[in-house]
Amino acid sequence: MASAVDSIGIGETAITRIDGERGVLSYRGYRVDQLVDQCSYETVVELLLSGALPGAADGPELVHKLAGYRELPTDALAVLEALPSRGLPIDGLRTAVSAMGDLASVYPPAREACLRLIGRIPVLVARLFRRAHGLAPIASDPELGHAANLLSMLHGGPPNPQKTRALERYLILLADHGISASTFVLRVVLSTRSDLASAVAAALGALKGPLHGGAPSGVLDMLDAVGTSNRAESWIAAALARRERLYGFGHPVYRVEDPRATLLRGFAREVADPGRYALARGFEEAALAALRSERPTTPIHTNVDFYGAVLLEAVGLPRDFFTPVFALARTAGWSAHALEQVVQNRLVRPPERYVGPEGREIGGSASPTDPGS
Ligand code: ACO
Repeated sequence: MASAVDSIGIGETAITRIDGERGVLSYRGYRVDQLVDQCSYETVVELLLSGALPGAADGPELVHKLAGYRELPTDALAVLEALPSRGLPIDGLRTAVSAMGDLASVYPPAREACLRLIGRIPVLVARLFRRAHGLAPIASDPELGHAANLLSMLHGGPPNPQKTRALERYLILLADHGISASTFVLRVVLSTRSDLASAVAAALGALKGPLHGGAPSGVLDMLDAVGTSNRAESWIAAALARRERLYGFGHPVYRVEDPRATLLRGFAREVADPGRYALARGFEEAALAALRSERPTTPIHTNVDFYGAVLLEAVGLPRDFFTPVFALARTAGWSAHALEQVVQNRLVRPPERYVGPEGREIGGSASPTDPGS
């Protein structure tokens, strides 16, 4: 009889393919460079969840359908109001997701629950933003798509079309990335037959870390510290000498440039202040040269977060909201992985190798086989 415990863990997925050697990323078999060029975020959500790409004519209906899932449960609203207004927005988001009672008691999660989550997260992010800035919330507009509605709920007024498209492209490119650290966490939680709210709250905890979704705000901190391109080389040399990591560079999977970084470089250029973009470009060139000379055999390239940060700043987001917006984009991928995980669910238990001491006796001396002695 097969063991109830899957000692291998999570290895197979039919959602996203990452070819780290060639730098190609595909959702359900479609390359992201095509998707980002031709599709809306709503279309990509549908593709990730169902596996099929809707036709262009279905676009308006998809927008309306997803817009119908934006209402927040009263418990989540009450929790949001009780949060300290000066706390980190990503912590507020994680706490409010935990309070979504209707998603917290059901296993297995269904597509409907996923759509509710995808619809609500932008509303939570916008409310956290307005609250942090002492402003009244702005109601969502059912006529606006995901990206336009987010900008409208953040800043009020009709959203700028160029900035809306830039944000939408960012959301598409960040919508999934295989079994990343946060997605792995989500799938482990669901593997215990826990619920979607718990799994996403845990994923948000993993995403927050600076080696994962917490990296983009660090990118702008570096650019601010450098100030002008001609200081980049010496600043980077000093940072690397202190063994610090340069945010926005390196990836555990890609051996060439992250294809999302290549695309976002171009999209950021279209919306960023030219001086800011030039500083970012100068910093990037100096960083790549320094990383190459420091470790010539280990390829370290620009990753998604470097120009992602420049783009998010250009569309009017403060840096403490970068990780929540990353989460907002990734909710589509997390949802697809949740649905995939529960189809043939097995409890995830990664293999382990014990490396501690053996055969100890209380009050006795260590055993001769004790590797710790
Ligand atoms: N800056 C400086 N040194 C780096 C960087 C970097 N950005 N990336 C890797 N290195 C160095 C490490 O210090 C390490 O050196 P050591 O062997 O002397 O200790 C070596 O390269 C290997 O580092 P690992 O962390 O083992 O490499 P890995 O490929 O697993 O790391 C990671 C990937 C964590 C993303 C790393 O490149 C990093 O910390 N980057 C900066 C943070 C960042 O941008 N994170 C977002 C990535 S995208 C995402 O969400 C996963």
